[in-house]
Amino acid sequence: MNSLPTSGKLRLGVNIDHVATIRNARGGDHPDPVRAAEIVAAVGGDGITAHLREDRRHIRDEDLARIQTATDLPLNLEMAATEEMLEIALRHKPHAACIVPEKREERTTEGGLDAAGQHNRLVPIVSRLRDAGIRVSLFIEAEERQLEAARLLGAPVVEFHTGEYAHAGLDGDAGREASELARIARMSALAREMGIEPHAGHGLTYENVKPIAAIPELAELNIGHYLVGEAVFVGLENAVRRMRELMDEAR
Ligand code: PXP
Repeated sequence: MNSLPTSGKLRLGVNIDHVATIRNARGGDHPDPVRAAEIVAAVGGDGITAHLREDRRHIRDEDLARIQTATDLPLNLEMAATEEMLEIALRHKPHAACIVPEKREERTTEGGLDAAGQHNRLVPIVSRLRDAGIRVSLFIEAEERQLEAARLLGAPVVEFHTGEYAHAGLDGDAGREASELARIARMSALAREMGIEPHAGHGLTYENVKPIAAIPELAELNIGHYLVGEAVFVGLENAVRRMRELMDEAR
């Protein structure tokens, strides 16, 4: 069994995409996602996550280098499995690249990557990223089939999509919420047994983060939309600090 030690401290990666969404709404340069990255660094965030979408609806190409220059925090670049994104990743060499499924019309990343069904397409992308020293993560549903596919691809990290868990909570469906949570917990343990580091993210809020943060095998959460929304009311510093507190209380 090739199991990795479980870490005590759960890292918080802050997804700053939606600072750029607000900026882009007016076409200028305010609010600047780089300033958000600096604030995250100042309040003890563990990483910056940014999704360069094909349509550039939030983060843009030039933001990546600016974020990398502005802070020493590791950058986790979320990217579709395309040749264009691969070239951008190889040029910028972020600390990590999280491969996500991307559909042009979707509002956000609505489901996990079909790592099992797309094995052949993913092989060269994962291996070229790995050869460049970039830590590859696959954003997948918490399913054994997808985890096994990640293992076959040699991905050192997976990020479990917590969208179904979050939706169940919003729907007030406690049974589904509990079963989604149990599924994520089971797959986190299995990932560790396979020697893969499990992360989680999507739709996490102050209300639903604690049960996820309490899963001992998880090493990192990536949280964006809720934090940027809260920042409107309490400031980004306070929003990140509060999320950090809740995550620490859960461990
Ligand atoms: N992780 C991944 C891979 C994502 O694509 C996203 C954004 O969809 C997030 C985490 C953050 O999700 P949210 O913005 O809902 O917190």
